[in-house]
Amino acid sequence: MAYKEPWSKKHKRVTGGLQHSFSNSFSEPLNIQELIQYSLARGDDKLVRAYNQHSLDYTPNGGSLDLREEVASFYGAKINAENILIFAGGQVALQTAAYAVLDKDSHSIAFTPGYQSVQQAPEHASSETTKIKLHAENQWQIDPLDVEKAIRSNTRYIVLNEPYNPTGMIMKPDVQQSLIAIARKHNITILCDEAYRLLEHNKNDRLPAMADAYENGISACAISKPWGGCGITIGWLALQDLDLKQKLVDIQYFGTACPSRASEIQAIMTLRASDTILAKNLEIIENNLQLLDQFMDTYSDYFDWVRPIASSVAFVRFKGPLSSDELGVQLAKDGISIKPTYCFIDDVTEYCDYFRIGFGEKAMPARLDALTRFVEKHKANW
Ligand SMILES: Cc1ncc(COP(=O)(O)O)c(C=O)c1O
Repeated sequence: MAYKEPWSKKHKRVTGGLQHSFSNSFSEPLNIQELIQYSLARGDDKLVRAYNQHSLDYTPNGGSLDLREEVASFYGAKINAENILIFAGGQVALQTAAYAVLDKDSHSIAFTPGYQSVQQAPEHASSETTKIKLHAENQWQIDPLDVEKAIRSNTRYIVLNEPYNPTGMIMKPDVQQSLIAIARKHNITILCDEAYRLLEHNKNDRLPAMADAYENGISACAISKPWGGCGITIGWLALQDLDLKQKLVDIQYFGTACPSRASEIQAIMTLRASDTILAKNLEIIENNLQLLDQFMDTYSDYFDWVRPIASSVAFVRFKGPLSSDELGVQLAKDGISIKPTYCFIDDVTEYCDYFRIGFGEKAMPARLDALTRFVEKHKANW
């Protein structure tokens, strides 16, 4: 693909180094002391020793067995350690999957607005990509009929992101079933970026992982979002199809095939403490959402949203006279960073009022106070 500036680079130029980073997409960041404490508290001294004494030799291509076993335990019976491939972060996993499935003669289906790497990985792999637009009026849901209509004889790949960044919504279970039925009929691989899975606000809304639900499905995940381990830089793919897995391994061979052992052990520490970490992070999210509810009620003349039901992100619409791009510039003057629509779509026309906020961190209330002061200062002009 010809070089194109990443969408969020502009956002970084406008908002880099601001005091109130209201656009962060992750849960409260972990730190290594916390991970060590969780390990010791459950008597896992061996893991702490492994961390302190690990060799700096290469790790096995595609990740060490102990981490792959730990990851596999988050999936159903058809996913074992051999069905897991570890990457140096979620983005690399997305790109490697697209390269393994696609070529210049193939066609893919993606959804927009959405996380840039999810939408553009197929294009980077030279595949012609149809981007289906999703809408707030439809609760940001995918319509399987739109997908059926977009299929061509050379369609090889449908790439989803559920729970869905930037909206914090989840597709309905029957929609997931319909998509799998369509893909099965046409022999299409579905990759679902599940970077926010396990961060459903009500766990009854959790969808089956794509790797469990579909024999040609791939689940992509990373330690970054639900657990707040962005700096661990570990992501993975889970899939049943071992032939496709071999292609992934071959492509990964040319990238970072051997993850850092320190990162792997940090990821194991995180996953073994998953229940504790997720409970803590969901509590922060719940408290922050209550504050956001109050804000959205108070300022309903200026903002609306489809209230998120998962993740730590929401897509908010500004009803005032500025586009989200212009609003972002104004907010930056007051030290507040949001992510305008241009971070999530090529052609912003239809969505120019939307921006993403994040509410996964303990610092969110201070950010919301800053936003409230901004609104009070400007609302008379809106
Ligand atoms: C939906 C989604 N997928 C993947 C990633 C990338 O994950 P990582 O930071 O582990 O590369 C992100 C990060 O923002 C994301 O929001």
